[in-house]
Amino acid sequence: MKLDLAAARERAEFLRKEIELHNYNYYVLDKPVIPDSQYDQMMRELEKLEEQFPELITPYSPTQRVGGRPREGFATIRHLTPMLSLANAFNEGELRDFDRRVRQALPGEQVQYVVEPKIDGLAVSLYYENGYFIRGATRGDGETGEDITANLKTIKTVPLRLRRPVPELEVRGEAYMSKESFARLNEAREEAGESLFANPRNAAAGTLRQLDPQVTASRQLALFVYGIGHSRGIAPSGHKEVLELLSELGFKVNPEYRVFDRMDEVIEYVSRWQSRRFDLPYAVDGLVLKVNSLSQQERLGSTMKSPRWSIAYKFPPEQAVTRVKDIFVRVGRTGVLTPSADLEPVRLAGTTVSRATLHNEDLIREKDIRIGDRVLVQKAGDIIPEIVAVLTGERDGTEVPWSMPRECPSCRSPVVRAAGEAAVRCTNLACPAKLWEGLIHFASRNAMDIAGLGPAVIGQLLASGLVRDPADLYSLRYEDLVRLERLGPKSARNLLGAIEASKSNSLARLIFALGIRHVGERAARILAERYKSLEALMAAREEDLVAIPEIGPKIAAAIVDFFASEENRRVLEKLVQAGVNTRDAGTGAGEGGPLSGKVFVLTGTLASFSRQEAKEEVEKRGGKVASSVSRNTDYVVAGEKPGSKYEKALVLGVRILNEEEFKELLAGIKNH
Ligand code: IVH
Repeated sequence: MKLDLAAARERAEFLRKEIELHNYNYYVLDKPVIPDSQYDQMMRELEKLEEQFPELITPYSPTQRVGGRPREGFATIRHLTPMLSLANAFNEGELRDFDRRVRQALPGEQVQYVVEPKIDGLAVSLYYENGYFIRGATRGDGETGEDITANLKTIKTVPLRLRRPVPELEVRGEAYMSKESFARLNEAREEAGESLFANPRNAAAGTLRQLDPQVTASRQLALFVYGIGHSRGIAPSGHKEVLELLSELGFKVNPEYRVFDRMDEVIEYVSRWQSRRFDLPYAVDGLVLKVNSLSQQERLGSTMKSPRWSIAYKFPPEQAVTRVKDIFVRVGRTGVLTPSADLEPVRLAGTTVSRATLHNEDLIREKDIRIGDRVLVQKAGDIIPEIVAVLTGERDGTEVPWSMPRECPSCRSPVVRAAGEAAVRCTNLACPAKLWEGLIHFASRNAMDIAGLGPAVIGQLLASGLVRDPADLYSLRYEDLVRLERLGPKSARNLLGAIEASKSNSLARLIFALGIRHVGERAARILAERYKSLEALMAAREEDLVAIPEIGPKIAAAIVDFFASEENRRVLEKLVQAGVNTRDAGTGAGEGGPLSGKVFVLTGTLASFSRQEAKEEVEKRGGKVASSVSRNTDYVVAGEKPGSKYEKALVLGVRILNEEEFKELLAGIKNH
C-alpha cells in the first residue's frame, strides 16, 4: 500500500503513540498487554514508513533510540540546580540523630518519611521541554556534568516523550545495570581478555560514558527516577506525590518505596531490608530516607553538600569465611603478572564467590595469605571480592606460602620487578600471552575497531605464526585466512575489509591501540591533538610531554620508554609501510571543548558574526559546522531570513537557536 505524505504522517504518529504505550506497559509497569510479535510488527511498520518518508523522522521517534555516530568527547552541561549528594548513616543511632535534627528544626510539626532503596548506580539528570526529552547529563561534580543525551536515549525506560506535556521538567534518577546484565557483560569481557568491571555501578558508569551510543545500547542499562530538580507547570506537595506524578508521566519509579509516620517504624523496616536486598535483580547499597512534605524540605534546606531533609542508610559490607584452594597468575597485555585466589565457593552478598583478586605479591605478603588458609572475604558493594584477613588461628601447619613465579607462566621467560613498582612483568617482548592481550586491545572497539578479530581468531593467528605483531595484520592475505579453522570465506573477506578500513582510523585511535602503559583513550586524544602525527609524538622529549596539561610524569616516562624500544620502532615502521594513518586528519582545534561532538548548521544572516566568524567560534569550542541539516545535526543557528535549512530543522525536530541563544551557548551561560 502506497501512502501519500499526509496519510503517512498520521499513520506514523499513530504507531508512535501505540509503541510508546506498549513500551510503558512493558518496561515501566512490567505488564505487557500485547505479544512481542505484535510490538515488533508495529516497530517494523514505523521503520518502513520512516525509510520511505525520511522527513517524518523525529528525534523522539521510538526508532531513534540508537542514533548518531560515535562522539569524540562529551560536552559539559551546567545543572539548573546543583546535584547534591546525601549524608550517610551507618547504624540505628545515626538514623535517630537525623530524626532528632529534623524535628528540632520543625518544632511541633508532624513529620513523615518516605523510605526508598538506594540503587547502586550513577546519578543522572534528564531535561524535558513541553514533554520532549531534550538532553541528559551525568552528575559530574554536582555543578556541571557531561552531556550523555545520546546514551540516555538508548535506555528503554527513558521516555522520549512524556505521557502528557509539562512545560519544563528536570528529573533526577539513578542509571544502573541489573545484576544479570552485569554478569553477562563481565563474562563477555573476560572471554575477550578485557579488564572486568568491579561492580554494576562501575559498569553503568563506563557504559554511560561510552562515546559510541551503539555500545551503550548493547549493554542494557535501566533507570529509576527518584526526584525533580527543577520544574514549571506542576505543583506536587510531597515526595510521595512526586513519585506518583513521575510514574504517571511515563518514568519508571522504584516500586519499593514506603511512607512512615515514626522513626521506630523506619528502623524496623530498615532491619527487614538487610537480607531482602539480595533478592532484587539490581544492586541496592542502602536505603534513602526523605522528609515527605516539600514545604518542610524547603524549610530544612541544604548544606553545601547535601540536603538536611534526607539521609542515606548504608548497609554494612557483607563478609564470609572460606578457604584458599590455590593462587594462580594471569599475564596481562603489558606483561604484568596478576595473582588471584581460587576459593572454595561460598555464598556472599547474594552470589556465589569462588575467586578473589590479590592485586600483587606485596599484598599477599602483607596479609600473609597462604594456600590452604581460611580467610575472611568481603564485598563492599563490589562484585569482585577481596580477602580482608587470614584466620591465622585456624592454621594447622599444612598451609603453603606462595611466592611469585620467577618465570612467566605462559612463555617461561624470566620475570622482573622494576624498582619502586609493585608489579612483576614478563620480560619477553614476544611473550604469546602478552601478544595475545596486546592484539585483542589493538583490535578492540575503542582502539582500531577491527570487527571480527576476536580472541579466538587472534589465538589462531598467533599459533599459526601468521602474526607476530600488530603490523603483521596488515599483510594478511585471503589465502592465509581461509585456511584458519572456523573462518569461512565470508568471514575471511569481512575481516580483511575491517583490517583495511582500520588503516584510515584517527591518530588518536592508533595511539590508544598501541597499548602504551598509562595511555588511555583520553590521553591518546590529547596527544594526537598536540602532536598531529605519530612521527612528531615519537620525537617528543619527556620534558615536552610533561608540559602538556593532563600528561603527568608517569605517562610521559611511559611514552618515551615505549618509543625508545627498537622492537616497538620496528613495528611502527611496519605500520607506516602498510599505509596505516599516522596523522591527525581534523584541525584538532577545540577538541574536548564544551561543544565537542556537537554538530551545527548555520542559516540566515547573523547580526554580530559573519558566517566564517560563527564557524570559528563553534570550532574553537570543539564543535563542527556542517552544511546541511540531517538527523545528526544538534543545532541549527537561525539568523535573519533563514533558508530551507530552517524548515528542514523543524521537520526533523532539530533544536533551533536564535542569535541570542547561540551567543549564550557560546558563552556557556545557558545549556541548550
Ligand atoms: S536522592 C540530594 N534517592 O545516591 C540528593 N539518591 O549521595 C538526592 N541514589 O548521588 C539523591 N538511589 O546517585 C536519592 N532513591 C534514591 C537514590 C539515590 C540512589 C544515589 C544518587 C546520589 C547518591 C547519594
